[in-house]
Amino acid sequence: MTRLTIRQSFTAARAAGIVAFAAAASGCGSPAPGLARGEMLFDTCSPCHGADGAGDEVLAAPAIAGSSDWYLTSQLTKFQDRVRGYHYTDAEGLRMGPMSRALWSDLGDIESVVEYVVSLPIPDPPATMEADAAAGEAEYEALCVNCHGVDGRGVDQPLPELNAPSLLHLNDWYIASSLRKYRDGVRGAAPGDAAGATMRAPVSGMSDERIDNVTTYIMTMQRLPRRIPGPPPEPLPALIVDAAILPEGVTVEMAQEGQDLFHGAGVCVTCHLRGGGGGPLAPDLTDDVWLNIDGEYESIVNLVMTGVPLPQEHPGPMLPRAGTSITDDQVRAVAAYVFTLSR
Ligand code: HEC
Ligand code: HEC
Ligand code: HEC
Repeated sequence: MTRLTIRQSFTAARAAGIVAFAAAASGCGSPAPGLARGEMLFDTCSPCHGADGAGDEVLAAPAIAGSSDWYLTSQLTKFQDRVRGYHYTDAEGLRMGPMSRALWSDLGDIESVVEYVVSLPIPDPPATMEADAAAGEAEYEALCVNCHGVDGRGVDQPLPELNAPSLLHLNDWYIASSLRKYRDGVRGAAPGDAAGATMRAPVSGMSDERIDNVTTYIMTMQRLPRRIPGPPPEPLPALIVDAAILPEGVTVEMAQEGQDLFHGAGVCVTCHLRGGGGGPLAPDLTDDVWLNIDGEYESIVNLVMTGVPLPQEHPGPMLPRAGTSITDDQVRAVAAYVFTLSR
């Protein structure tokens, strides 16, 4: 306890100096937005995250080098808006919050510092936990692989606010602590945090032991360089629909557009899997069993609009419009595709 207090006041003292520095640095005569400005701003990050951006366990600051630009931007913005670091028990998030607010949006500070961070070499942190990696692998395959990928690299696609980040540069102590925060609503539970809510579903109800197992497994993954493109996804089979089965106002073209939307990054496929076959996070949509609705077209549209806050048989909720910004017409198209699956 004493150790923690000393450490916290030490951090607070350093942090106070850092904020003063950042304020000075953002005045006139400082570099224009870009790499040079980012490097200068990074001096305010390195006391906690390390000169190489590889993190500091004593200060509980994670590795940030090795992450991708869209993810870093999304998290810095969440800290600024108190969508992350909002909970009174989140000591680490509360420490990071003020740092993010020393970055000035009108000076392009986030873009600049992110540009610098992604220019740093990718760290390869050592494993420090020794839980059951085999049990963790089974968890990962059932609950994580759809979003973070077989290799843990995450995705690098549109809809950045929904996509799953890379896990490969992270320290195990940080992964385990983040998973507990998502589970306990200390992270990812602020209003409007669609990506956080998406991540909360797979860990809801997970024991500490299971969290340690899956974390131990993640540390065994091969550390592939960031942004080496993986194999392209297999093309979707052409959707053949008998127009006669479609309800009024629904066309074959809508169902075809819906198939593409359904399989788009972060939309439905992450939970309902390819072709809507279902998995641990969401039900099979190809059979004639319906848990929440009667399976008629309008009920599918309504369900996608409102989501499923309290699932019958699955660990976490489905958000309204799956947490995305798809339009009403796109919801009707994706519902048309779902309608055809069980018929
Ligand atoms: C006073 C220490 C401190 C300073 C200075 C600091 N951070 Fe942090 N940062 C943290 C801590 C602690 C966390 C972990 C929060 C958590 O566990 O949720 C964090 C988390 C982050 C994250 C989230 C990483 C992830 O994988 O989700 C980013 C991004 C980040 N910091 C960027 C920065 C940048 C950029 C700067 C400089 C402008 C900076 N930090 C300065 C302590 C600090
Ligand atoms: C449905 C998609 C989805 C699934 C399944 C999923 N994640 Fe995530 N994960 C995300 C998204 C989206 C984020 C970013 C959330 C945010 O912005 O806070 C994330 C964030 C994380 C983070 C935080 C990374 C960081 O740098 O702070 C960790 C760790 C993580 N996931 C691990 C896991 C593990 C382990 C599993 C399986 C038990 C899992 N995820 C399952 C989508 C998913
Ligand atoms: C974060 C995971 C997740 C995502 C992403 C997701 N769903 Fe769901 N979906 C669920 C869960 C959980 C349920 C409710 C299951 C239960 O009640 O046990 C559900 C239920 C449904 C149902 C009703 C099934 C029934 O038997 O009641 C439909 C239809 C559906 N989803 C369609 C979609 C469509 C279309 C998308 C994309 C726009 C989508 N879902 C995205 C998790 C997800």
